[in-house]
Amino acid sequence: MPQGQTLAIDFGTSNSAAALMHAGAVHRIPIEDGQPTLPTAVFFPAEDGPMQIGTAAIEALIAGEDGRFMRALKSVLGLPLFHEQRLISGRRRSLLEITAAFLERLRRAAEDHTGQRFTHVLSGRPVHFHAVSDDKEAQAEDDLRASYHAAGFAEVSFLAEPEAAALTTAQARKEADIELVVDIGGGTSDFTVVQQSAAGPVVLASHGLRLGGTDFDHAISMSHAMPCLGLGTQLRREMGDGLLPVPIAPFADLATWAKIPFLYTPETRRMVARMLRLSTQPDRLGRLAQVLEQELGHDIAFAVEAGKIAVNGAEGEAVIDLRIVETGLDIAATRPSVDAALTVHKHKLSEAVATTLTRAGIEGADVHQVTLVGGSSLMSLVSDVVALRCPQARIARAEAFTAVVDGLAHAAHARDRAAAT
Ligand SMILES: Nc1ncnc2c1ncn2[C@@H]1O[C@H](COP(=O)(O)OP(=O)(O)OP(=O)(O)O)[C@@H](O)[C@H]1O
Ligand SMILES: [Mg+2]
Repeated sequence: MPQGQTLAIDFGTSNSAAALMHAGAVHRIPIEDGQPTLPTAVFFPAEDGPMQIGTAAIEALIAGEDGRFMRALKSVLGLPLFHEQRLISGRRRSLLEITAAFLERLRRAAEDHTGQRFTHVLSGRPVHFHAVSDDKEAQAEDDLRASYHAAGFAEVSFLAEPEAAALTTAQARKEADIELVVDIGGGTSDFTVVQQSAAGPVVLASHGLRLGGTDFDHAISMSHAMPCLGLGTQLRREMGDGLLPVPIAPFADLATWAKIPFLYTPETRRMVARMLRLSTQPDRLGRLAQVLEQELGHDIAFAVEAGKIAVNGAEGEAVIDLRIVETGLDIAATRPSVDAALTVHKHKLSEAVATTLTRAGIEGADVHQVTLVGGSSLMSLVSDVVALRCPQARIARAEAFTAVVDGLAHAAHARDRAAAT
């Protein structure tokens, strides 16, 4: 049987894309009108309607439609939660089934668009989903492979996301330069050092960290938004005198994209109601109860993310708009307040760049070019870190949201050609 073309898929924590080579150029599959990527988001209407994906899913959430919204599915790969059956809009489903349904939509869009049938996929994967030594690390790739199989792909291969991105930048540059590709997305930070050559980039080392824009969102939410919902307040003891700090867990989950849907349970609502009766600041903690009741967790997460992006922009300050929770509830976010929330993350990124260079056997000063890809590489703290670590390097930006899928399309094409000969 002749082998069909391999479809390239970048399944991202925040955004996904599919592409293939056509007539010598990358062709991205239009999944949403006029957009090269789509949000990795799904929405299940409460009434048994079809699952919505991408921007349509976000629009359903923002319009306040009744149903279950999910984002950051990738960050749950490797966790037991990925396989657990949960009641979602009237049906028990696992996150594996939901991820498979999302990937199947990408496959069908590619098939409708090209008239081809796709049985092979080359998918990006972070250098590490979790820590290397973690059991969850191997499980995460198994989970993603199982999702692709369930989505109808018979053969599934993986390529590290920053190595894919390096293939894209190699198309534009042929000098024998040392290049550091830094891909910071929604869920992971990935680094590859390549030596560019006429024959293509040679990978000297790759390294990765489970840290991305969703972690930035978490940190900013915990420092800016959650205190307004009662984080940091106190509870009276049920027995005896004295005060206790309010538990952090419900706030930490509410500030974590992938965990928000699982907070909307009768148990959590009862726990918060009990906390509220003991609260010394019910005006604040009452908002948490209301957010759980009205299922506003994702609205808060989107407001925090928008605030993060705005603070990073030219103005350097923004308001995190929580008026959906309460009239007039706006929280000021400034460059210093956000920098303070992200100090630990910045330090980890800096250490990860140093580790990558050491593994490649080079000094920062040996790097000719740093290429930044991924939405979170637009954060100024990222360019600050690489400028310090690689003082001689030119800092270039590739297409932040499509460099990985474009590189995957090149790699898929090369594999298909090799298999055909
Ligand atoms: N202008 C911006 N400034 C800062 N951050 C941004 C900007 N635009 C998008 N982001 C962040 O970039 C992240 C998404 O980037 P991207 O689409 O590259 O991730 P991804 O590929 O889905 O994730 P991963 O590769 O980690 O699985 C989000 O966290 C988003 O908030
Ligand atoms: Mg990515």
